[in-house]
Amino acid sequence: MEDYSMILTDDIQYIGVNDHEIDLFESQFTVPQGIAYNSYVILDEKIAVMDTVDKHFTEEWLSNLKKVLDGKKPDYLVIHHMECDHSGSIAKFVAEYPETTLVASAKALTMLQRFHPEFTHSEDQKIAVKEGDTLNLGKHELTFIMAPMVHWPEVMFSYESCDKVLFSADAFGAFGANDAEYDEIDPICLKEARRYYIGIVGKYGRQVQAVMKKVLNYDIQAICALHGPILKPDLQEYIDNYNCWSTGGVDSEGVLICYTSVYGHTEKAVHKLKEKLGAKGQEVEIFDLARCDISFPVAEAFSYGKVVLATTTYNADIFPYMRTFLEWLKERNFANRKIGLIENGSWAPAAAKVMKGLLEGTPNTICETVVTLPSILTPEADAQMDALIEELLAD
Ligand code: FEO
Repeated sequence: MEDYSMILTDDIQYIGVNDHEIDLFESQFTVPQGIAYNSYVILDEKIAVMDTVDKHFTEEWLSNLKKVLDGKKPDYLVIHHMECDHSGSIAKFVAEYPETTLVASAKALTMLQRFHPEFTHSEDQKIAVKEGDTLNLGKHELTFIMAPMVHWPEVMFSYESCDKVLFSADAFGAFGANDAEYDEIDPICLKEARRYYIGIVGKYGRQVQAVMKKVLNYDIQAICALHGPILKPDLQEYIDNYNCWSTGGVDSEGVLICYTSVYGHTEKAVHKLKEKLGAKGQEVEIFDLARCDISFPVAEAFSYGKVVLATTTYNADIFPYMRTFLEWLKERNFANRKIGLIENGSWAPAAAKVMKGLLEGTPNTICETVVTLPSILTPEADAQMDALIEELLAD
């Protein structure tokens, strides 16, 4: 992966940190390659620091900042987002540099006081900016773009017009530390960017689209999100992906199968389904929902256009991991997919009916054919599987 270590342009320098210690991001997402908390300094006649970092990295971040400042003092701290992984070092920053003016949306300044009631920065050292306001630093100028609900209500972006850099808060972010090793075929860690988008921001596609319409009017040469790599190459590809994800588009060909299986019979059946789909030239990805971090199959469900859900009947309901999975999908406005259902039930199969009920009201197409496994894959169920494949793959 490209070394994004410290310099973005001559005047805009990276001072963020990489977190490989975290167990669960936001206390729910595994991050096998860690996470970065990004922060920058714009050096000009006036100096602006762009966001802080998680409180566990305050000292490392302050040390990065001091190196870049080289004895100078910052004039402004621009706060794009108040979530604690970015605002967690504000209090110590202000204690170190009490003359700095804080620049944020009015909502962010209110939140700042809520998170830190002990905070005593005077009112004349806070600037509440709104849509289109500018902050001149010398040759660099920031224009503020409000981005409510991408991902919290106080979020704003800023556009720096000299080097044409968009500071995009959580938008365009990705899981993965900036010093992690990435697959050469996925240099901008697209899967982890998708998982970040769907998991963190995915509920707010409409709001993402609203802000995309505003920012795409600018000439953007680099995007600096609060997590993940600085985006300079492949910018258009990234923007296209963001448009796809935020409008419920499909970006993977093939079929996704998500299942739960108590004793392995449903698992055996979905592997048979995979084999049959493979014979028809279909790429298939499979997840055992009980044995993975759910955010992975959730992100993939928003990538594929065709999804098969297979689960057991369990206490006249469905297996708990499948119920949770469907709740995650619905919360993120799961739509525009063709869905096939496989149920298992040794005495009173009800799983397909329960899954249909949970998906009711979502704008998806559920295949009429249901595969019912009366404990194991019987010849009758095998025939239903063939019918389901035909329906699933039909235009
Ligand atoms: Fe990394 Fe919504 O903050």
